Amino acid sequence: MTKTMRMSAALFAALIAGTAVPAFAQSGEVNVYSYREPGLIQPLLDTFSAETGIKANVLYAGDGLLERVAAEGELSPVDVVLTVDIGNLVGAKEQGLTQPITTPALTERLAPEFHDADGNWAALSLRARVFYVSKDRVPETALTYEDIAKPEWKGRLCTRPGDHAYNIGLIANRIAAWGVDKTRTWLTAVRDNLASAPTGNDRGQVKAILEGSCDLAIANTYYMGLMLNNDAEPEQKEWAASARIVYPDANGDGTQVNAAGAFIGKYAPNPENANKLIEFLLSDEAQQLYADANYEYPAVTSVKPAELTQSWGELKPSKVSLTETAGFRDEAAALVDELKFNEGPQN
Ligand SMILES: [Fe+2]
Repeated sequence: MTKTMRMSAALFAALIAGTAVPAFAQSGEVNVYSYREPGLIQPLLDTFSAETGIKANVLYAGDGLLERVAAEGELSPVDVVLTVDIGNLVGAKEQGLTQPITTPALTERLAPEFHDADGNWAALSLRARVFYVSKDRVPETALTYEDIAKPEWKGRLCTRPGDHAYNIGLIANRIAAWGVDKTRTWLTAVRDNLASAPTGNDRGQVKAILEGSCDLAIANTYYMGLMLNNDAEPEQKEWAASARIVYPDANGDGTQVNAAGAFIGKYAPNPENANKLIEFLLSDEAQQLYADANYEYPAVTSVKPAELTQSWGELKPSKVSLTETAGFRDEAAALVDELKFNEGPQN
């Protein structure tokens, strides 16, 4: 089945080369660009195709897809773009790359904060950015964002570089909640509490907890599930087992979340099928498949997260909305630069 579902080799080559592409059939197909990996997306698309008879042609790429859609302009063959980070979703709308999603599922299935007010993007899953703390060295079961700026955390924090989209999202969320001045003071103290200059990815920070080089790492929730179940690299199971998750501000204003989501291309050749795909991705079945495969939180909140995800505690999302947070990305990036966050502790 998968062979016929895949984009033809010639078309794929044309897309990769960035040259003009042959016209897609006007019915029976939907063209997808996905930042998200095949292991996660292909089972969903196979189920969609089996249920609807609509063939899904997919181009997977780690980055550059929004740039590609922009460069293709009116000739873009893309119907649906699957991406991560609210910044990309809001950015696509701002760049005029989207058209409104018209399926009633958008508003029936998603709370208002999880879709664009004009329908230009839909969240499909949520990921929380949380604290991973050492099981051995950290007794606290509740922590706030302000706590990690306190002197008792000196030399004990670790995170990936501040200019990564995940940390920009976190800092932007703090600016939305606190304003720039308080966030600057906080981020300065967090920088000075780092064990060393930030480096590596989220999983690497949890490894650093096992190795004893830090006690509290800032990382996204789903990596706990991905590491605990990583049979290809079983050492990651030990990294994950050395830490437990604490949801920042769980007893206060809530934990920062980001979204993975979808939008329909402005020049989508198959808009009806694009809407059918979005409707499917918001169904209980797809939401459950997606949540179970990636340990993210379903954007449709009536669907339960995977059991493992639930075992980390209850997520209380930040009162600051996704779009409000996305609006402070530039200010967040400017603070990271100003404070030379990536150079590590300075006091
Ligand atoms: Fe990630």
